[in-house]
Amino acid sequence: MENYSNFHIVQHPLIQHKLTLIRDKKTSKKEFSELVNEVAMLMAYDMTKDLPLKEVEIETPIKKMKSSVVAGKKIVLMPILRAGIGMVNGILQLIPSARVGHIGIFRDEETLQPHTYFFKMPKDGTKRDIILIDPMLATGGSIIAAVDKLKERGCKNIKCLCLIVAPEGVKAFCEKHPDVPLYTAALDECLNEKGYIVPGLGDAGDRLFGTK
Ligand code: PRP
Ligand code: URA
Repeated sequence: MENYSNFHIVQHPLIQHKLTLIRDKKTSKKEFSELVNEVAMLMAYDMTKDLPLKEVEIETPIKKMKSSVVAGKKIVLMPILRAGIGMVNGILQLIPSARVGHIGIFRDEETLQPHTYFFKMPKDGTKRDIILIDPMLATGGSIIAAVDKLKERGCKNIKCLCLIVAPEGVKAFCEKHPDVPLYTAALDECLNEKGYIVPGLGDAGDRLFGTK
């Protein structure tokens, strides 16, 4: 695959270890859900390492001091329904003040085309930094549609977080939205004839919610 400057693979050993457990078909629904949240939290930690800081004055029990707090705009987490929901609580543990919007998109099983059925963002969402989350980026259709919608609404500062991506989808995404950083834990081999990521982890929504 070509190199895209907006595409980042997070290689941390703990993320890679937990991702192996997530992929394993023997992993239970409970463990799968816990691990998806843990990996989402670790990835969010990495992708927020450039958040700007500002100094404030506080007083410790010993003396007054200047110390750093996160400056700038507040964050909105935007899970793509359904499977993106599985990553929200993990990231909220790290950034409890983040607001949460929702975008409902499902892909047609035959055509693999995305269909948007729900959109709700905090009122001042366009002024905030958006983290769009979905465990899987396969053809890229769903996440491209989600970023299209956010840009249409006036959002400017968007980052995407997906656990596993396929090369076909990364190419489509990076060519359509080169200005939007995309973070992942794994770039897999390809898509199969049904549009599933190979080797992937199967259907993320079904494994999270036990719907199969
Ligand atoms: C899955 C996944 C992504 C999408 C990825 O959702 O969570 O949103 O497929 O595929 P794409 O890159 O080819 O668009 P799905 O459509 O299965 O909906 P669900 O989460 O409601 O099960
Ligand atoms: N959606 C999933 O849940 N898994 C895939 O492999 C592709 C799309």
